Amino acid sequence: MAPKTSPEIGGMGHSVKRKEDPRFLRGLGNYVDDVNLPGMLYLDIVRSPYAHATIKNIDSSKATAIPGVLAVITGKDLEKYNLHWMPTLMSDTQMVLPVDKVMYQAQEVAAVLATDRYIAADGVEAVEIDYDPLPVVVDPKKALLPDAPVLRTDKKDKKDNHIWHWEWGNREATDQLFSDAEVTVKEDIYIPRIHVSSIETCGCVAHFDKVRGKLTVWMTTQAPHAIRTVFALVAGHVGLSEEKIQIISPDIGGGFGGKVPVYPGYVIAVAASVLTGKPVKWIEDRMENLQADSFARDYHITAELAGKKDGTLTALRIKTIADHGYTDAAANPSKFPAGLFHVCTGSYDLKAAHVEVDGVYTNKPPGGIAYRCSFRVTEAVHTIERMTDLMAHEIGMDAAELRMKNFIKPEQFPYKSALDWEYDSGNYAAALQLAMDRIGYAELRKEQAEKRARGELMGIGISSFTEIVGAGPSKHFDILGIKMFDSAEIRVHPTGKVIARFGTKSQGQGHETTYAQIVAEELGFPVDSVLVEEGDTDTAPYGLGTYASRSTPVAAAACAVACRKIKDKARKIAAYLLEAHEDDLEWEVGKFFVKGSPDRAKTIQEISLAAYTNHPPGLEAGLEAVNYYDPPNLTYPFGSYICVVDIDKGTGEVKIRRFVAVDDCGNIINPMIVEGQIHGGLTMGLGPALYEEIQYDESGNILQGSFMNYLLPTAVETPNWETDKTCTPSPHHPLGAKGVGESATVGAPAAIVNAVVDALWHLGVRHVDIPITSAKVWKLLRAAGVRG
Ligand code: CDP
Repeated sequence: MAPKTSPEIGGMGHSVKRKEDPRFLRGLGNYVDDVNLPGMLYLDIVRSPYAHATIKNIDSSKATAIPGVLAVITGKDLEKYNLHWMPTLMSDTQMVLPVDKVMYQAQEVAAVLATDRYIAADGVEAVEIDYDPLPVVVDPKKALLPDAPVLRTDKKDKKDNHIWHWEWGNREATDQLFSDAEVTVKEDIYIPRIHVSSIETCGCVAHFDKVRGKLTVWMTTQAPHAIRTVFALVAGHVGLSEEKIQIISPDIGGGFGGKVPVYPGYVIAVAASVLTGKPVKWIEDRMENLQADSFARDYHITAELAGKKDGTLTALRIKTIADHGYTDAAANPSKFPAGLFHVCTGSYDLKAAHVEVDGVYTNKPPGGIAYRCSFRVTEAVHTIERMTDLMAHEIGMDAAELRMKNFIKPEQFPYKSALDWEYDSGNYAAALQLAMDRIGYAELRKEQAEKRARGELMGIGISSFTEIVGAGPSKHFDILGIKMFDSAEIRVHPTGKVIARFGTKSQGQGHETTYAQIVAEELGFPVDSVLVEEGDTDTAPYGLGTYASRSTPVAAAACAVACRKIKDKARKIAAYLLEAHEDDLEWEVGKFFVKGSPDRAKTIQEISLAAYTNHPPGLEAGLEAVNYYDPPNLTYPFGSYICVVDIDKGTGEVKIRRFVAVDDCGNIINPMIVEGQIHGGLTMGLGPALYEEIQYDESGNILQGSFMNYLLPTAVETPNWETDKTCTPSPHHPLGAKGVGESATVGAPAAIVNAVVDALWHLGVRHVDIPITSAKVWKLLRAAGVRG
């Protein structure tokens, strides 16, 4: 889309430099840990060494004897106020601090309040706790066996570890298509537990002002308004009502879904501040963040795909066990316990599908957060893209050809999927073709054949994913009953400057720039004259926050609609000033003019001043608007990624030689920011594909509890990403835009796995679970008799 505005105005399509970067690049960001208040106290947390144990006794005498330690807070203390348990976003319950038993290693057991961060840490060391270990369940499949110990003994009448069963689709039609199929493929796919590892860990500063009775909490949250409501619901009975709670989400150093849940530390800090009347700071350290905060994925999937020998795909059947840890604290829309996993038919025109998911409790921290993903979409994409590839190999058809044959065609949009989603727009073949042209697909296949003849291992993997972002239409989407709209409130000042506030909250995505660009696009104010604010519940309009790439589909749409309301009023003011009829005015970037008389014009700045100094009689003064946008549908960005790998026969090391990513997120607000989102997202897809996994031993000890063994890709491991784009606007979004923040993380792993399996298929390898470590590949090579 060619920009409609000049670079000076900086509307949509301009790669405006990020307004937030001067402060970030100079170390002048204001993160939660930068908040320091007079008389502030510090909280540190005692954590359980056991994954499952009864607490026999907590002796805090040695800790409280340390000068500067003011208190040791336990579950029993919180129980007095009925604050020892809290609800999760999925209407389960989660301990703030345990009263009788712990459920996972690193769980919060007590909190030490002290005058200094380091004294608090000394206090933690001095708290003595007697535990009585209980049998541990780490494997969700074993958790479902009849003789498994029941973990949630707090739930009356709970006789097993099964949380919920959920299914979707047409079972009979799917089974019938499987019976009729000429060819079927089946695979067990495990998508392991991983952690978001944002640069900033979680934390808060809670300040209860006893005089005003007001609680202010600076906290690392992606959803400040929802958190305020949850706090009011949980602590209303101790006097914290919603108008007296202010949540401020200052600069956030990466969220990726990990900063949506409410962690016990936040609640304990608030309770400590309310009890002492002093500000209380709690900041996790890196290992606490990695070991105890909510996790993503952990899906044990069995998938089957049916089709014909000519490559026509017909039906998909999936059964999944979802390991949620000891509580279901996933941040999903309420109606969908498995998130949007049922977008698993992907980019393909299937006749029927059926999906079943069972949630299970284990002795692990809560799981189910949407790691840079729209609620289980990565799991869905991984499954369908692996299965499609498996089918191609099974019938001996090229993986690109099979995809091209089964893609939903452009003329089929809006397209109703076999699992009931209405895809808004797409042109999947164009994206794949562009990726194939960019990478030189045909030549690579020739090279691969030559190399294979020489015994060298080279693979080409494709992932042609469809995403589903922009939760969401209120008829289907809510969290704890709160509908998933989002909001924009825009005020134009008399001097032609603008403040725009939103219910979302950037964690590095660049909203201060891109939202300002939308105002520039719609109203013609230069991007520099628009100040964007998010994250303060006292000033921002109510919204559900930023995660699951929903900011552009929902809040950016709210921004456009609010601007259009302002423009309608600006037209009335211009008509009055120009002594013309409204219908005789035309809009050109930044001004209204009388049709046929371009000289008779009023700029948006002149109109802004008049709104406060010379507004038409009978019209309210001022120039501002609010919009709460309830999207009519989700947006469905898509892309095709092609990855080329070379595998070292001696070490099993997978080397990504090339990776071409073609993305389509409809109309783009800021091409540079989108490219940055894709580069970062691809690297966050590379990590889980090759390196990242959280595992536990039989006793529930975490095996990757620090960055020494939880491996994140660095610049050294990251290949040169080659990006390109197609543009298929969303027909229902006011700007034709779709979300993009997570596309690359969702789409990348499948391309990498498919490339590895493609390199090894002739050796009898059908599937490799991520992360594809060198050790795993080395074992497969040795099993196939390959030596380096
Ligand atoms: O919700 P979140 O901000 O994480 O995701 P998003 O809506 O996909 O947006 C990520 C960043 O990319 C934001 O700064 C968007 O404004 C920008 N973007 C864009 O410039 N054009 C698009 N079509 C989509 C996103």
